[in-house]
Amino acid sequence: MNQTFPENSTAVGLDLGTSRVVSALCHETEVLYVSQFNAFTTIPFSKLTENTLKKERVPYLLQDSEIEVFGDESERFANLFHGEVRRPMRHGVLNPEERNSSIAVKQILSLVLGEQNGRGQRLCFSVPAPAYGATEEVNTHQVQMSKILCDLGYEVSSIQEGLAVVYGEMESTAYTGIGVSCGGGLCNVCLSYLSVPVFSFSVPKAGDYIDQSAALDRGESATRIRAIKEESFTFNGHFPNKNHQSICAYYDDMIQALVAAIRDAFSGAQSMPKLARAVPLVLAGGSALAPGFRDRFEKVLRETELPIAVSEVRLAANPLHSTARGALVAAMGEA
Ligand SMILES: Nc1ncnc2c1ncn2[C@@H]1O[C@H](COP(=O)(O)OP(=O)(O)OP(=O)(O)O)[C@@H](O)[C@H]1O
Ligand SMILES: [Mg+2]
Repeated sequence: MNQTFPENSTAVGLDLGTSRVVSALCHETEVLYVSQFNAFTTIPFSKLTENTLKKERVPYLLQDSEIEVFGDESERFANLFHGEVRRPMRHGVLNPEERNSSIAVKQILSLVLGEQNGRGQRLCFSVPAPAYGATEEVNTHQVQMSKILCDLGYEVSSIQEGLAVVYGEMESTAYTGIGVSCGGGLCNVCLSYLSVPVFSFSVPKAGDYIDQSAALDRGESATRIRAIKEESFTFNGHFPNKNHQSICAYYDDMIQALVAAIRDAFSGAQSMPKLARAVPLVLAGGSALAPGFRDRFEKVLRETELPIAVSEVRLAANPLHSTARGALVAAMGEA
């Protein structure tokens, strides 16, 4: 909880993810990343609990006669009490069914940005690309989040997540290629040519879909399936039990949906550039972390006829930081 934030950073990149919120700040020659789980949970009020949380600098708010705890600590409490956390965002945008969503997001922002005001620093935050026919929801989210961040004292801009992955990972190809972020709420894709986004879209199947579907299948909680997936799932073909089998089936379903969407979107694009050579594709996001994911994705991609040649499928150096890093590149580029 005692994170220190550099005072002299002039730009901030913010990955505002459904599952995790990550900030990227320049400190001398280094980029510092701070990450928190985008979730909260409620625990019973007692004065002793409140004082202990205060002393330990655990972020909390008093709500009616209960205490709300935010960020990584919410997961620890939920696990202790075998409960589920509440999530302020769903499918990449503020969750309209969670009445405390913007209060919770503000608390989580203070954990990754620090308590002090933005003092006019440039901040670029990630937004999801629209799924087909869902532009309005993303726009509403973008406007709401811009207001929250402006009120915190930042000079705010936004970037679509797939393009942020290109900015974060594809400097060596002059920001030409396909950025794919496989996250919690969505998979986001962007084709970029010399840093200019040609087109972007999202697919509403990602880590949360795998957790919720396998949980339903197995009669488990989504929190438990998520823990199994993150701690012990691999694509090596040997599944110690039926939970792993079920996770694999829904992971495959996600990959199939993602590759089919890439094929359809690229085939149907009006403004598809005539590229002289094959372009690389970079995989980022937490759902790309499962061992064997890159190989599994590439196999399905290579079996699919695409209107664009892909030279290589590469896993990002640090898939959990790519979006925040790209948002920082965008914020610095606005100098
Ligand atoms: N080691 C791992 N293996 C498999 N999945 C993982 C692993 N670590 C994290 N994940 C999954 O990655 C997802 C979160 O990824 P990420 O932090 O990139 O999402 P996000 O940016 O918050 O969401 P979105 O981009 O969809 O809004 C979760 O579903 C989480 O369970
Ligand atoms: Mg993301």
